[in-house]
Amino acid sequence: MPDLRALRAAMTLDEKTAMMSGADTWTLPGVDRLGVADVKCTDGPNGARGNGLLGSGLPALCVPCGSALGATWNVDLVERVGEVLGDEALSKGARMLLAPTINLHRTPTGGRNFECFSEDPVLTGELAAAYIRGVQSRGVATTPKHLVANDAEFERNTTDSVIDERTLREVYLLPFEMAVRRGGAWGVMSSYNRLNGTFCCENRWLVRDVLMGEWGFDGVVVSDWFAVRSLTASLEAGLHLEMPGPALHWGEGRLAAAVRAGEAAEADVDAAVDRLLRLRERVGALAGPLDTTERVEEVPERVAVARRAAAEATVLLVNDGILPLDVAALRRLAVVGPNASVARIMGGGSANINPLHRTSPLDALVARLGDDVEVVHARGCDNERFVPALDIAFDVDVFAGHEPAGEPVDSVRMANGRLVWSDPPGGLDADEWSVRASASFVPVDTGVHTVSLVQAGRARLWLDDRLVCDGWDTDLVAGDDLFGFAREPLTADVDLVEGVPVALTVEYANRDTQVVFGAKVGLGRPAGADPIAAAEAAAAGADAVIVVVGTNDEWETEGRDRTTTQLPGDQNELIRRVAAVNGRCIVVVNAGAPVAMDWVGDVAAVLDVWFGGQEMAEALVDVLVGDSDPGGRLPTTFPLRDEWTPAHLAYPGENSVTAYAERMFVGHRFSDARALPVLFAFGHGLSYTTFTTSATLSASSVEPGEGLTVRVVVTNTGKRRGHHVVQCYVAPSAPRLARPPTELKGFAKVDLAAGESREVTIDLGPRAFAHYDPGDRDFAALVEGLPVPAGRGHERSGPGWVVDPGRYDVLVAESAVVVHHVLPVDIAGSGPVVIEPVGL
Ligand code: BGC
Repeated sequence: MPDLRALRAAMTLDEKTAMMSGADTWTLPGVDRLGVADVKCTDGPNGARGNGLLGSGLPALCVPCGSALGATWNVDLVERVGEVLGDEALSKGARMLLAPTINLHRTPTGGRNFECFSEDPVLTGELAAAYIRGVQSRGVATTPKHLVANDAEFERNTTDSVIDERTLREVYLLPFEMAVRRGGAWGVMSSYNRLNGTFCCENRWLVRDVLMGEWGFDGVVVSDWFAVRSLTASLEAGLHLEMPGPALHWGEGRLAAAVRAGEAAEADVDAAVDRLLRLRERVGALAGPLDTTERVEEVPERVAVARRAAAEATVLLVNDGILPLDVAALRRLAVVGPNASVARIMGGGSANINPLHRTSPLDALVARLGDDVEVVHARGCDNERFVPALDIAFDVDVFAGHEPAGEPVDSVRMANGRLVWSDPPGGLDADEWSVRASASFVPVDTGVHTVSLVQAGRARLWLDDRLVCDGWDTDLVAGDDLFGFAREPLTADVDLVEGVPVALTVEYANRDTQVVFGAKVGLGRPAGADPIAAAEAAAAGADAVIVVVGTNDEWETEGRDRTTTQLPGDQNELIRRVAAVNGRCIVVVNAGAPVAMDWVGDVAAVLDVWFGGQEMAEALVDVLVGDSDPGGRLPTTFPLRDEWTPAHLAYPGENSVTAYAERMFVGHRFSDARALPVLFAFGHGLSYTTFTTSATLSASSVEPGEGLTVRVVVTNTGKRRGHHVVQCYVAPSAPRLARPPTELKGFAKVDLAAGESREVTIDLGPRAFAHYDPGDRDFAALVEGLPVPAGRGHERSGPGWVVDPGRYDVLVAESAVVVHHVLPVDIAGSGPVVIEPVGL
């Protein structure tokens, strides 16, 4: 065991402080002379991207997004996914994966909901802990993120999430607590936003008192990228690492100078360095440099895990019996919708990676069924937010200086149409640089096309030597593509002819921008007369029609929330018209978060495949034809109306203040408490088979601070193999304080053959019955001298986790609204009790 204290003692102040901020975008610098290695980190969370940004970089395995993993409700499977992601991080030379994202679905339209597991803190916390255990089993650190209350993208860099302590502890902090206590996370990422007035990176109560003090977190607190706002306040609060480099506050000798000037304490630096060394010990980085070379690895076992996870994430929302498809009876299958012929497999922003392959649902269906079934396709309508990016490879010449002139200093190839960088391309070491990127494409239509040029920096675009978009020196309005660093797109209409190749040149200079550098070329196809009519025609003579609708990584992305759950474009109209001509209509929803479904009563089946990762299309076919049971259950409530969601009146707040006014009543807790109808309840999802359950409790009465065990025997009473998720909710019968009517406290998933039975046990810990009471420290002073009667309303307890005596019902359910067993339990005692230890 290396002596970490001795190692730190051997370091100079400059060496220690240099370790505390990034060397570049993705490197935690070490100290060469002492064998302390640089550690590379990578996003995260649905794959290990390696270098690069926004889908650029070498190909990597793309697993289902966070909400899809949430829909699996499968702790063991998510741990396996974590192991695979740990291996993937190693293949990119990284020892720290910037994941998982464990903020909550406070609103159904949060831009990063696809990255987060669920609306529910317990489901999120259990899956987060499993994911972390999996990744870290490979010697790769995790950074559950973003601590805390970064639940929306609106003004995320400034917004103040104003939340009372009880709500924080019971809801938004709980997944982080579980990630630390149960997952043993080696890192935590603090968020951009403020919490109750103080930026999270400099929130001493949050970082020092709760995370490190109460929860005993012994890892590294890393800032979100550019989230640090101060030199000393963040250090004093307990932050250990400012990213990226060169760091704005602690970088380039500033932290060492502050220590020398007596403005920052060397003891705080030492404490941070001890943790950064412990991190290196954990990831094996104390014996000289690590190999940070990036490799592309296509490992069948890992791909199989991604495929299984995609199938177990698929939620069958509605089924009139059409699914699974009777393939033998199919002659003609129509596959329509804007997400049918493209692979919408992940959301946008820092989670975006370059997958090993992109397979569309249409391609997967043709490959699997095409020999025996005639598959016809029509897109039906568009659903893009921006003019769709041209997915072509560019040859890129790199130049020093802001003019792409003279001899290039390097040449690189950018494979997937994205000319996006976080550092100069080709390893160039220059502040000012530019590129000339060349490509060609062959139009598939004749007519007037819209070309667009999005730029973070300065760019211009030629088609066949004609300058069509010129942003080189023009005034441009700020836009929100490319992480919000782009300007509004420039567009032009051009006549193109089917089959006649077009040469395309983009020049780009990294002027007038920061953080994100690059450009994106879009090409919109000519509008047809009535695209929905073509889909109706395709559907009319088919034995069944599959309509693949949803969003994409421009609608659901870091940097911007959606404004509505409505499907973009004419997709609702498409579904209605197609369902009217063919009643055997199966809608596949391909989106990371809830969408409205006014048409739900008009169709035969609805499946939700989320952003299912690179194996999504194969898994979808597995489910459609019955090779896999649709194993998913909703990890989030699908509301009937956006107005009936918990944060509707409080989001996004004003003047950069977001009051979490709905308090603990997030997700189903809100619709339950308000008795509001929902489109689909939290936990809902159908199987191809049927189940019965019987349930008992290990005790019918317990002392405060004791837990109990729920035993459930599940029997598959149908004719096929399938999944059942046992969900345990706790409902206090006569709560003294405001409490959600039911809260999820435990769950278990089983996969049973036809006729098979299995007993599952779910442990409800002491906290399952508790609420958090921040305590009223001044109460005694307030009542001093007053004749205050004892009794309801006057009990004071806390601070801490408090159990009130009385009756609680343990509900064994298949969703938040379909309950199979109500098992009462009495908690003994005559008044509230603060429970010790704080066991989860
Ligand atoms: C995101 C983080 C991410 C980081 C590095 C930030 O914009 O909020 O989740 O890990 O960038 O890409």
